[in-house]
Amino acid sequence: MGNTRREAGLLPLKPLVKAVSTSTSTSNNYPAWHPPQNGEVRSPCPALNTLANHGICPRSGKGYTIPVVIDCLKRGLNVGADFATVIGTAGIASNPNPLTSGLYFDLDMLDRHDFVIEHDGSLSRADASTGNNYSFNQTIWDTVLAYYSGMDNATIPVASKARFNRISTEAARDPNFSYSPVQFILSYGETALYLSTMGDPITGVAPLEYVRSLFEEERLPYELGWQPPKTETTLATLGAMALELNAASGEQVPEGVILGEKSLRAALIGLNAATGEIENNAVYAIAKLTGALGSLIGL
Ligand code: HEM
Repeated sequence: MGNTRREAGLLPLKPLVKAVSTSTSTSNNYPAWHPPQNGEVRSPCPALNTLANHGICPRSGKGYTIPVVIDCLKRGLNVGADFATVIGTAGIASNPNPLTSGLYFDLDMLDRHDFVIEHDGSLSRADASTGNNYSFNQTIWDTVLAYYSGMDNATIPVASKARFNRISTEAARDPNFSYSPVQFILSYGETALYLSTMGDPITGVAPLEYVRSLFEEERLPYELGWQPPKTETTLATLGAMALELNAASGEQVPEGVILGEKSLRAALIGLNAATGEIENNAVYAIAKLTGALGSLIGL
């Protein structure tokens, strides 16, 4: 996993102020951080890796059930149980034997391409066709950071353009590029997630050095002054922000899809986000067991 700026000088950004300690110091109560050690596994998700590196989610990266995910997303990032349940359900769907093995996932199962969550055109990972869709990739991330040149804060309008550029870039250069309506929705959701948890789930304003700590260090930026936002990140706040992000990019919405809370839930539980019909039987079966179906009226 890279965490140096390989193309130094490419961007007029201040170097990330890195926290120096790797464990809880006596002067604070921050959860101790260290990168994965022998046998511990990680994922293409910067946030889950970060929470595991602090031991807020299991450091092993293994055995993530819905109760585990609800608890550690709440404690670590003030993410609500509603979103934790549906994203956790999609995570479990990445387990090759989700029903027989006990409704859990390990972080290294999340690499499964095009299987609900993992998709092309990521902000900080290469497309699956390159052979590595899971490691942090500084060169790709630099193309996102370029949009923030000269700015101290990530914002909805700029994050939106940076996200759309990643989709357009890979669509043009990856002959195997895939981008379904589900992936369209999740990609907006991921940008909303970093703006919400590193900043504010309503305004979407997030200090850039916090965002960089999450992606580049896979570390919560406590020592830079960050605390979990007071406002909880929920399906509703994420859906509303996804809508704003889309308005700012002007990207065409797939036919029939209404971006928002309900389509975000639908995308993660195996439903067609436009029609509400079951699209992925396996995921839907898991969602019935995890309690992720919730209210889909009005999709
Ligand atoms: C059980 C909970 C979660 C699961 C199973 C999960 C899974 C994933 C997966 C599989 C990806 C890769 C998608 C891709 O191909 O780009 C991803 C990306 C991402 N996730 Fe998570 N995630 C979870 C929770 C969260 C939370 C709470 C956040 C809050 C910040 C978050 C932020 C992100 C972001 C920003 C990306 C995009 C990375 C990129 O495009 O480079 N995730 N997640």
